[in-house]
Amino acid sequence: EKDIESQLPLVGKICLITAGPTYEAIDPVRFIGNHSSGKMGAALAMEMASKGAQVILIMGPSHVLTDHHLIHRINVKTAQEMYDHVHENINEADYAIFSAAVADYKPINPADQKIKKKSETLTIQLVKNPDILASVGAMKNRPYLVGFALETENELEHAFAKAEKKNTDLLVLNSTRDKGAGFGKDTNKITLIDRNQKTFVFDTKPKTEVAKDIVNEIIKRTL
Ligand code: CTP
Ligand code: CA
Repeated sequence: EKDIESQLPLVGKICLITAGPTYEAIDPVRFIGNHSSGKMGAALAMEMASKGAQVILIMGPSHVLTDHHLIHRINVKTAQEMYDHVHENINEADYAIFSAAVADYKPINPADQKIKKKSETLTIQLVKNPDILASVGAMKNRPYLVGFALETENELEHAFAKAEKKNTDLLVLNSTRDKGAGFGKDTNKITLIDRNQKTFVFDTKPKTEVAKDIVNEIIKRTL
């Protein structure tokens, strides 16, 4: 007979997860965004919850469902809103997983009214968004921290630098070279990078299975 502890090893733990894209307003009817579906973050939330963790899911615009009695979902639009909700909740978290595809820049001055079509060219000035993951990595008392990285060249080299800069315990490198991986797809191919720059390569598989691999690795390393 399996005891409850081995089936639900994360009972009593709190996990904060960011997921999905962010939308940054250009004017009242337009935005800058990206093609993130939120599927990977949703799969991670479901997997952490199925292991007994209480999940705070801070989700950008996404139609993906995440119904589970242990998941508290907070829907946000912008990077700034995501940042604010992360910092409202981060102090109670034992784990934090940052899978959101946060917009790196936002329009510096969103127009109050719809921008009318006039000149042949239009320039929109952008300003950097806060780096949510890096801001948590810099905290003194921080949860066990898992970040994601998407690279299109020198993947490992860039990912190592990202892990160090953002102070992650585990970095999930999304392979963009693989046909089955990426935005909107149901499968993903990842490489995990730990604090010692040790790498663990996984096969292409459904995002639900990728989530199991990541969560198993987290459990192995923290319990
Ligand atoms: N991230 C974040 N806040 C941002 C940008 C990124 O929390 N403003 C997080 C992502 O959720 C991810 C990690 O940082 O976990 C890496 O995101 P990525 O876009 O790969 O890296 P960047 O640091 O934004 O660098 P670049 O896009 O230039 O490669
Ligand atoms: Ca980025």
